[in-house]
Amino acid sequence: MPGTAVIGLQWGDEAKGKIVDLLTSQHDIVVRYQGGANAGHTVVVGDEVYKLSLLPSGVLTAGVTCVIAGGVVFNPAKAIEELDELESRNVEDCDNLKLSDRIHVIFPWHFAEDRALDSNTSDGENIGTTGRGIGPCYRDKVGRSHAVRLGDMYRSTFREQIEHITAAKNRVLASMFPDGDLQPLDAEEIFEQYSAFAERLKPYVADTTDYLLTAAESGKRILFEGAQGALLDVDHGTYPFVTSSNSSGVGISNGSGLPARYVNKVIGIVKAYSTRVGGGPFPTELDNEIGQRIRDQGNEYGTVTKRPRRCGWLDAVAVRYTTRLSGVDSICVMLLDVLSGLDELLICTAYELDGQQSTVFPSHVDDVRRVKPVFETLPGWQEDITKVRKLADLPANARAYLDRVSQLVGVPVEMVSVGPARDQTIPVSPG
Ligand code: IMP
Repeated sequence: MPGTAVIGLQWGDEAKGKIVDLLTSQHDIVVRYQGGANAGHTVVVGDEVYKLSLLPSGVLTAGVTCVIAGGVVFNPAKAIEELDELESRNVEDCDNLKLSDRIHVIFPWHFAEDRALDSNTSDGENIGTTGRGIGPCYRDKVGRSHAVRLGDMYRSTFREQIEHITAAKNRVLASMFPDGDLQPLDAEEIFEQYSAFAERLKPYVADTTDYLLTAAESGKRILFEGAQGALLDVDHGTYPFVTSSNSSGVGISNGSGLPARYVNKVIGIVKAYSTRVGGGPFPTELDNEIGQRIRDQGNEYGTVTKRPRRCGWLDAVAVRYTTRLSGVDSICVMLLDVLSGLDELLICTAYELDGQQSTVFPSHVDDVRRVKPVFETLPGWQEDITKVRKLADLPANARAYLDRVSQLVGVPVEMVSVGPARDQTIPVSPG
């Protein structure tokens, strides 16, 4: 039974959506299992551009069931907005969507808490969250007493649950916004609004854990769609400058409810360079005109928040770490075309810390901040490669760059992407 996972190996925005989209038709089921509407993905089908932040991009493929599993935090208004948009554009497969009744639901208090708490890391640097209530919702999930799962919204106790939580949240929010910047939340209004959401979403709600276990046991082909990147993993990333879920390969089982043995292949997605949005250390960051050139060429502005992304050289120390952490079998190198026209390309092959060189990615954020990248310089290429469809037709220097990345990271390259369209993809045969 082929179970395949697609995992971002940097700080998100690696263009996972395109690879998921290409692989979707070879699978029966696509599963999103962590994160929420903080993940933006753009899928280009012919002349149509779809921007989704919560629904799996598999909703664009007929005959495939899309599952949002229990590990996701869920903004029902966003899901309905995306469903309405797809229906208005005649994407008919929304019928094949299943929403776990175990999903934790994002409420207005989560957005307010996200705003209030983002600036409170102990060293004063903001995490720079997407403001989508992700962290506060996960915090309530683990805290248990003020959490609502999608299945709760169909119970007779829902009104009482909302009244209880709203009262408690209003007390907390009053202390977070002492200047009265926030009006107290109205339990009745929230109950009415979320009851309407529940009604609209009812046809899609299911026990997806049981559904997925049964599907896996009967040999269905499942594609696991990771959100964000492994360096944002709450346990193994650049903590605290991370998201609140396990965005590396380690999150697949707990988020989906499927044992790890159902994942037979892990594909890591790597940009040909690095980007990061929000705060936190970024050893290979280019705060200069090359960084700006990459930002412009790669259109490196957030899908969700429109923030300009920080850009830098490829960091093979970081990617080797996340490749090992996620059990990656092969990588797809994305946006290679963005590097065309640069005379030289740098790859970080080691870090220097306190006079010592190492290829280990440090566990403490202060050390990630302090490392000096050790760079290797490779010659660039000038040709436009956006129309190349065969590996042999890439300029020799582009092939040499890919070979070196593969060697440093320790796994083969499986695909290379040279543009956003489905066909701007170069398959790479193993060996
Ligand atoms: P949060 O997930 O909104 O709590 O944001 C935490 C950190 O993760 C911030 O630095 C965000 O910019 C980053 N982040 C969250 N989602 C994404 C994503 O899909 N792509 C890139 N960065 C993300």
